[in-house]
Amino acid sequence: MRGRNQGKQRAARMTEFTIVGISGNLTRPSKTRALVGEILRQASSLVAARTELYDVIDAGPELGTTVQRAGAPAGPERIFSAIERADALVVASPVFKASYTGLFKHLFDLLDPKVLEGRPILVAATAGSDRHALVLEHQFRPLFAFFRASVLPIGIYAINADFEADGAPNKGLIEQIAPAAEQLVAALAGSARACEPGATIVRVA
Ligand SMILES: Cc1cc2nc3c(=O)[nH]c(=O)nc-3n(C[C@H](O)[C@H](O)[C@H](O)COP(=O)(O)O)c2cc1C
Repeated sequence: MRGRNQGKQRAARMTEFTIVGISGNLTRPSKTRALVGEILRQASSLVAARTELYDVIDAGPELGTTVQRAGAPAGPERIFSAIERADALVVASPVFKASYTGLFKHLFDLLDPKVLEGRPILVAATAGSDRHALVLEHQFRPLFAFFRASVLPIGIYAINADFEADGAPNKGLIEQIAPAAEQLVAALAGSARACEPGATIVRVA
């Protein structure tokens, strides 16, 4: 009996982490969504973590007419709550007019300013050319600095040439993602949530 209880306690102490990917693409198929998917795939090969991936299309057309977090319709609500309970986030958007898409920003506009505090965040963008590569520095980083999130030093910026004809990240991009995924997992291991009693990081590779 005692042994069984101990086993239960051990099981209860194993905390699985959740890494949530948010992509600002407005259409599918999407290179941005594929990029986030590959980052999540690589991160979850390094640590025992559950991953979830949403784009703003998943929020449904109600996202645009939702003006406050409280009482949000089911589509946006699903994404808000995923962001709020994430242990770490991968946030990405296609570059539209030298910035993230409007709906990507709108999604984060409606969140409580304290909700991402200290959370490891990897930023990424896709674009038509190298011209707006600094978008990660002058758009993404200030937004998540506002939230006092822990934005990783590495970011991923990919252009059309970094994808195969079917829209999947090519070999070069996959290799570029590897150190970013490692940094994300290391940040997750060192984050406040990971240090909570009972939290267990398991390296699987
Ligand atoms: C409305 C619109 C605005 C865009 N603005 C830019 C831009 O300012 N700079 C750039 O490099 N690419 C721009 N692009 C190209 C997209 O960023 C690029 O095709 C992106 O990879 C698309 O991602 P997706 O496949 O996830 O939708 C724009 C595309 C659209 C449709």
